[in-house]
Amino acid sequence: MKFFITGHTGFKGSWLSVMLSECGHQVFGLALDPDSDGLFERAGLGRRFTMDARGDISDPDLVRQRIDQAQPDVVIHLAAQALVRDSYVRPRWTVQTNVMGTLSVLEAVSAVPSVSALVAVTTDKVYRNVGQSFGYRESDCLGGHDPYSASKAMADLLVQSWVSSFPSTPTAVARAGNVIGGGDTSRDRIMPDLLNAFADGKSAIVRMPSAVRPWQHVLDCLQGYVTLVDALVEGSGRGEWNFGPDADAVRTVAELADTAARHWSPEATWTTGSQSDLHEASLLVLDSSRARTELGWKDRLTFEQAVELTVAWDKRVRRGEHPESVMVDQLQHFMELPA
Ligand SMILES: NC(=O)c1ccc[n+]([C@@H]2O[C@H](COP(=O)([O-])OP(=O)(O)OC[C@H]3O[C@@H](n4cnc5c(N)ncnc54)[C@H](O)[C@@H]3O)[C@@H](O)[C@H]2O)c1
Repeated sequence: MKFFITGHTGFKGSWLSVMLSECGHQVFGLALDPDSDGLFERAGLGRRFTMDARGDISDPDLVRQRIDQAQPDVVIHLAAQALVRDSYVRPRWTVQTNVMGTLSVLEAVSAVPSVSALVAVTTDKVYRNVGQSFGYRESDCLGGHDPYSASKAMADLLVQSWVSSFPSTPTAVARAGNVIGGGDTSRDRIMPDLLNAFADGKSAIVRMPSAVRPWQHVLDCLQGYVTLVDALVEGSGRGEWNFGPDADAVRTVAELADTAARHWSPEATWTTGSQSDLHEASLLVLDSSRARTELGWKDRLTFEQAVELTVAWDKRVRRGEHPESVMVDQLQHFMELPA
């Protein structure tokens, strides 16, 4: 099949392009230029793409032209300003990219009849966080305390309103949470901060070690998106879907740091840093029983395995292995695990 991925140069896009192309699919992409030290460039993933287009997702003409040119079977919309902290610095850019970008994709998909499935990726942060300890369900209210969360909630609502207002391509919204995996270089994400400090022989600084988060390996999350595509193509799967990890993976930041340190080396350590003055959400867990029962999707990796694989990726690449070959190797290992 022909997959058009927006945001293909980002962290999830990089892993998704390897996952799809290794399965024999043709991949097309539209995104901004990646950072030179990002996974996409380091792994040389551009050559996997039939189209590796660059430009702003909020430009409707550009998005339509590129999707029309590709004539894809499937569109997976990942492109976003994806960092909460950046959204405080650039709220307008965040809203323009995440909301108007989603509108550009919806319009383009409606105009290109080859597309038989659209998955729009939002986040667990779309839910109005009322501090509940049990999981949020797809039918719960949306909200958004910070500009990023609000922009993704707006994008989510926009997709829902689009499909109920216009005759449209089979469409689904996928909501997932924090992902970890090899090659994430984003600022202010915990795993890259830990691994960089360990590699430099420094004690990692951890903000909010007692905060509890649901941790998931990027491959488990992407497998959810691909399962959803299969369902849409087969005539089911419309609507909103949570793809969160099992209860086993709902752990404190301190447990994540301890587990990563243990897999790195006996010398690896971390200390508690000063807390940011920016608002950080309290615990938010997804109830993913709908995806488990109706799509037959579940995480293949435990919390321990997800951290181990992430640390192993980093160590192997720092020792000189090519990032792309480590990705392919870890993908093969993942695909062999029981589904
Ligand atoms: N990584 C996570 O933990 C996580 C958690 C929940 C949801 N998500 C969502 O998953 C998706 C992918 O996240 P990621 O971690 O790969 O993010 P990322 O920041 O690594 O990648 C973002 C991608 O979007 C592209 N992009 C950004 N602004 C753009 C614009 N104006 N025009 C065109 N392209 C643009 C970038 O070039 C890049 O390819 C996003 O929609 C994000 O909100 C990510």
